[in-house]
Amino acid sequence: MTLLEIDDVRGGYGDVDILNGVSLSLQKDEILTVAGTNGAGKSTLAKAIVGLLPRVTGRILFEGVDLLPLPTEERVARGIGYVPQVANVFGSLSILENLQVVVGVRDQGKRIKELFEAFPLLGERKRARAGSLSGGERQQLAFARALMTRPRLMILDEPTAALAPAKVAEAFQLITRLPSLGVSVLVVEQRARQSLAISNRGCILDGGRVALSGDAESLLEDERAAELYLGRSAQAQSHVEQRL
Ligand SMILES: Nc1ncnc2c1ncn2[C@@H]1O[C@H](COP(=O)(O)OP(=O)(O)O)[C@@H](O)[C@H]1O
Ligand SMILES: [Mg+2]
Repeated sequence: MTLLEIDDVRGGYGDVDILNGVSLSLQKDEILTVAGTNGAGKSTLAKAIVGLLPRVTGRILFEGVDLLPLPTEERVARGIGYVPQVANVFGSLSILENLQVVVGVRDQGKRIKELFEAFPLLGERKRARAGSLSGGERQQLAFARALMTRPRLMILDEPTAALAPAKVAEAFQLITRLPSLGVSVLVVEQRARQSLAISNRGCILDGGRVALSGDAESLLEDERAAELYLGRSAQAQSHVEQRL
């Protein structure tokens, strides 16, 4: 089943278009990586889906419903969760308070209990201030906050960007768990190879357009993708190193 269908989306912050006709789709239970260099429009696309981009045309269908006329809160209520690139938790609030301040949650107490079962570390430290957490713990809290409203689609904007290198694999591991919780994922990532490795499909944005898209596996093997967007593969890299 197609969960999200984006068709010829254009728009930006002022007069200039940042997105120049993006089309892509995401199936239920799928993880989709959106990759691309800095400034390609990845965060802007995430904002367009969530309803935070001032000017958008085209179509964004979620479960068949056109999102464009709807304000952000209604998109969230319809099942879209969003973890922005920065400032995704309240540092001065405890873990528990960070979950309690999420608006529009049915059966709040029950939902918090479920999430503490899914993220035991958060439950154990529920009185700790979010500002005192490690990068990895804060990431779990940001995910849990977005999951409070029981979304069926999560939009993650560079979830590994603020993490210590040793914690990156753990964050990707966490993302792979989401489909089993009934949550499909659109993940924006600079670490394109690692992200594609845990994804079903991927697309690469360049200048606000989809330059390449397809199965994650075929993108990882694609010469042009490697050359232009993904950097040399680890295997090719080690051949080079052996020769030096
Ligand atoms: N709030 C904003 N106002 C105006 N221009 C912006 C804003 N945010 C991003 N841009 C511009 O949009 C373009 C794409 O940015 P962005 O979507 O953040 O790229 P990416 O996430 O792929 O690095 C950049 O040229 C950037 O300068
Ligand atoms: Mg970005």
